[in-house]
Amino acid sequence: MVAMSGADGAKPRDGQGDGQRDGQRDGQRDGWSSRSAFILAAIGSAVGLGNLVRFPAEAGANGGGAFVLFYIFCILLIGLPVLLSETLIGRHGQSSATESVRRMAAESKASKYWEGLAGLGVAAAFMILAFYCVIGGWVLYYVGLFVGDLFNSGVTGGALQGMTADGIKAIFPVLLENGLLMTGLDLLFVAITVYFVARGVSGGIEIVAVWLMPAFFALLLGITIYGAFGGAFTETLTYLFTVDFSKLTGGVMLAAVGQAFFSLSLGVAGMITYGSYVGRDVNLAGTSAIIAFADTSVALIAGLCIFPIVLAAGLSSEGGLGLMFDTLPHAFQSMPAGSVIGLAFFVMVGFAALTSSVALMEVPTSWAMEKFKTRRAPTAIAVAALAAALGAASAYSLNTLSGFHPLGFIPLFEGQGIFDTLDAVTAKLFMPIGAILTAVFVGWIAACTNSGCFWCGGCARWY
Ligand code: TRP
Repeated sequence: MVAMSGADGAKPRDGQGDGQRDGQRDGQRDGWSSRSAFILAAIGSAVGLGNLVRFPAEAGANGGGAFVLFYIFCILLIGLPVLLSETLIGRHGQSSATESVRRMAAESKASKYWEGLAGLGVAAAFMILAFYCVIGGWVLYYVGLFVGDLFNSGVTGGALQGMTADGIKAIFPVLLENGLLMTGLDLLFVAITVYFVARGVSGGIEIVAVWLMPAFFALLLGITIYGAFGGAFTETLTYLFTVDFSKLTGGVMLAAVGQAFFSLSLGVAGMITYGSYVGRDVNLAGTSAIIAFADTSVALIAGLCIFPIVLAAGLSSEGGLGLMFDTLPHAFQSMPAGSVIGLAFFVMVGFAALTSSVALMEVPTSWAMEKFKTRRAPTAIAVAALAAALGAASAYSLNTLSGFHPLGFIPLFEGQGIFDTLDAVTAKLFMPIGAILTAVFVGWIAACTNSGCFWCGGCARWY
């Protein structure tokens, strides 16, 4: 497959030697095979547990409509410009995230320390990868649970037949108590992820996105339409779209900004890395708009998918991770063809999680490949092994190691175990700081050099 960045992206820029291929250390740098492959991969990176688990949970915990409206506002006003800035840095640099920022800074005669912004991002992506794969492991567990249930409960009846409400409620906490099982599932999810990352951009990462994202959309729409007929759809519409401005407190706004960054994969060098595989002929502004639109639509549709099922079963719409792993399985019990829907649902979540975990793993992998001049496959496997080790520690932090609070001396992270600390440190510190620095860097620091400019106010052309 001919990679775009290998073809177009490698044009020598003005003033550089003819043989000097931009960003190519060893002749051919891998890249997306087409613009649509990039769009699907970037949407795959953005659409994930953040849309399906975090968004409905945050909307539920933060008063519905007011949160949703402010969230959309954040996506348009903050998310979209930062997304564009990240892809722009990557596409210009055609290298790992840190090298791409270093280049842009050097060409703009800015301090080389700007590279640190991407360094923070690489570290954050690694930390998210570690706990993200633990959650991916939970999703695998539920896929297994519903496969078994299909044999047990049959196709037409509700899910988990013969189980009491208390029995269903106990599934998730019992899983969380089992560190060994969670570690095994985490390993499995990491192994699936690394399989694709090790095969490269056009030969692995892109394949996951191109096959799984359409399947994901089909499942999401199918389940949503099914739920709309059987469930409390009008109640859901009122809940998600009736805006009560008195609920728009500072805390709700902060939650919405954080969710916007997380959902669009911003502030952790993810989009810089994916942008570095994009060809020069792709219009980044338009493409970023498509990515943001798709991501936001999926979050809203996920709300329209999950809440009718939950509300129709008379269950509470609040409750964080429990909404997916506790409340929904319960709701599937009273739903016709509940086992099939339950299985389809968790397969869909698994697809979304995998396209994001692949994107997360690519960030430290591409960084390490460049830093240590190593080949892709062994580098990816090393990153995966480290992520699995940190993942195991975070899995055990939910049970045996729950008393260990790594950053407990900082009030913001008080009382949090490894799992929660990884989540909070990245969402509350790394992502906002990374995103703000990226915006400042692209908006003020990086300047038009007149020789292969990357952002030129004069001709307003994205290069
Ligand atoms: N956006 C992903 C989701 O919604 C999670 C995520 C956050 C991510 N930062 C990332 C994915 C960086 C890839 C790269 O689930």
